[in-house]
Amino acid sequence: MRRPPMANMLPPLATIGIIGGGQLGRMTAMAAARLGYRSHIFAPEPDSPAFQVASAHSIADYEDEIALARFAEQVDVVTFEFENISAEALAILAAHRPVRPGPNVLRISQDRLLEKTFLNNADVQTAPWRAITSLDDLTHAIAKLGLPAVLKTTRLGYDGKGQFLLRSPADAATAFAQLNPKPLILEGFVDFAAEGSVLVARGPAGATSVFDMVENRHRDHILDLTLAPAPFAPETRAAAQAMALRIAEQIDLVGLLAVEFFIDRNGSVIANEIAPRPHNSGHWTLDACPVSQFEMQVRAVAGLPLPPARRHADAVMKNLIGPDDMALWPTILATDGLIPHHYGKRENRPGRKLGHVTMLFPRNALPGEFGIAAALGPLGTPPEP
Ligand SMILES: Nc1ncnc2c1ncn2[C@@H]1O[C@H](COP(=O)(O)OP(=O)(O)O)[C@@H](O)[C@H]1O
Ligand SMILES: [Mg+2]
Repeated sequence: MRRPPMANMLPPLATIGIIGGGQLGRMTAMAAARLGYRSHIFAPEPDSPAFQVASAHSIADYEDEIALARFAEQVDVVTFEFENISAEALAILAAHRPVRPGPNVLRISQDRLLEKTFLNNADVQTAPWRAITSLDDLTHAIAKLGLPAVLKTTRLGYDGKGQFLLRSPADAATAFAQLNPKPLILEGFVDFAAEGSVLVARGPAGATSVFDMVENRHRDHILDLTLAPAPFAPETRAAAQAMALRIAEQIDLVGLLAVEFFIDRNGSVIANEIAPRPHNSGHWTLDACPVSQFEMQVRAVAGLPLPPARRHADAVMKNLIGPDDMALWPTILATDGLIPHHYGKRENRPGRKLGHVTMLFPRNALPGEFGIAAALGPLGTPPEP
């Protein structure tokens, strides 16, 4: 009798430990459950959205060494939906169980200076940049990179927080004083035509699977719409996918990783940042792909086969941001063609991601601006004439 190659695969009923309890952890746990796994969520907030769909949770600070060790002992593998935990915390987890992606991947993606250095060494183009530790550094860097330029914290930024757009040399002192913690990074401003991203998964034995490039449109620095596939030239999309694969290999990824790109006026791709976890720009895969980004992550960390990241439909994903979008929830449910996803968050705060909707279209039939607005029904604001 031939046995399936189970040796390095996590068997059903095993427990996946997930650091972070937000919507990404929630959707990872749901994908894990479908493959027969339990999930144990570790998060500090008592009513984390992921707790509602997991078989166990630990409520503790990300730096609580005793709680981290106890959590690790209760799971079979550790993965992340939140990547900003300290090297010390990672070391505790790694002392007990396989940590996927590994500590080195998190270390690099937590720090914009290490991230940019890594990307450039992997032959991936980024915006020109300089490390900034003093106002003097900043003055010199502005002289080299020109203006406008974007000053950012190196750590803990998200949804455009921890950034300052410098328009004139007079902005330098204010921006430097305002942004903390130091050090900072100055990036040349990329006059991009569009933004996009690619998700790539890689298993413990080096197998990879890469999703189609998507286009991302932001509103108030928060992702608003994702278009899958990105309506870019085929060469642009292929170049971005090749870069994502190169990054996954060179960083020795085990798990899932998102790469955010700028697309310049010539169609060239410039990497912006990487995130070693499921990404908001991959939520469309839940409805448009046989294997979603969340299942791909679970498969990668559990050592299961990684199927090709196929897309059976074109898709548009729209985020539901508090409070206005969620006020439309009853109407969304009543609108044909909107596939609703609610994250189970109690508080409807401004700027908070509370859910998303996906619309599917036949392959190669993604509509234009007006068609998308029409399909979004109550959520569609027609583009300015
Ligand atoms: N160097 C840059 N040039 C032009 N726009 C930028 C630059 N850096 C960031 N942005 C804009 O700000 C957004 C958020 O920046 P990003 O570095 O991705 O930080 P976050 O961690 O907040 O997502 C980007 O998606 C892009 O729209
Ligand atoms: Mg970003």
